[in-house]
Amino acid sequence: MVVTPEIRIVPDAEALAAEAASLVVERARAAVAARGRFMLALSGGGTPRATYARLASLPEPDEMPWDRTWIFFGDERCVPTGHHESNLRMASDTLLSKVPVPPGQVFAMRGDSDDSDAAASEYAKTLAGVFGTRRGELPRFDLILLGFGVDGHTASLFPGSPVLKEVFRPVAAVHAAAATIPERITLTFPVINAAACVAFLGSGTEKAKVVRAMLAERAPLPAAMVEPTDGTLLWILDRAAAALLPSDTKR
Ligand code: 6PG
Repeated sequence: MVVTPEIRIVPDAEALAAEAASLVVERARAAVAARGRFMLALSGGGTPRATYARLASLPEPDEMPWDRTWIFFGDERCVPTGHHESNLRMASDTLLSKVPVPPGQVFAMRGDSDDSDAAASEYAKTLAGVFGTRRGELPRFDLILLGFGVDGHTASLFPGSPVLKEVFRPVAAVHAAAATIPERITLTFPVINAAACVAFLGSGTEKAKVVRAMLAERAPLPAAMVEPTDGTLLWILDRAAAALLPSDTKR
């Protein structure tokens, strides 16, 4: 089933952060109203930093139900805790240390573990525990934020990686030779595609070629392989990242 992504193009990185932050608040309020809690997976990398900073300084802080928000991670680099390349560190510095989300509702991947396979299975158990899923069932996030690299990777799902074919395990350890930090832990496609909403954030000229390849030329790159089975797929791009998209792709 081909999912038609909704592509939102905004002027610049600041507008992207504003758009993404309001999406998070909107989805949070809807999820809490419907189910009493909001299940969010954060993206790593640099692009979401401004979005997290925006969420940490909302004009009306009460509009975001932090007390009813459960926070997970889409992936983590296997580095010591507090390392500058740690996604947990980035999210803590820009968001988690600044908002009243109960610490018991923040679930980091143990990137500092000596055994990334064990850390991946442990995170899968955590997901099952918090979502209340049984064996073979997938957790359904209300929102998963994702970035993408110039090679089309997303989370830690890299081109050519055997984990792209994973159909059962919700979380996997990966070795990404091309990445600055090769050892990583990542959510897999089954979990990502089970989400109610997946939102890609893309900013900057250096992303324009891969955006065209994925959204206009349908190149089978990992980020382009994200297709929620029963959910919304959003691409929030600034003008620079969307610059090479043919006009008929910009809805
Ligand atoms: C990570 C991310 C990764 C990231 C892309 C884009 O841990 O590295 O999850 O998938 O989103 O590499 O990174 P930038 O936003 O820094 O371009």
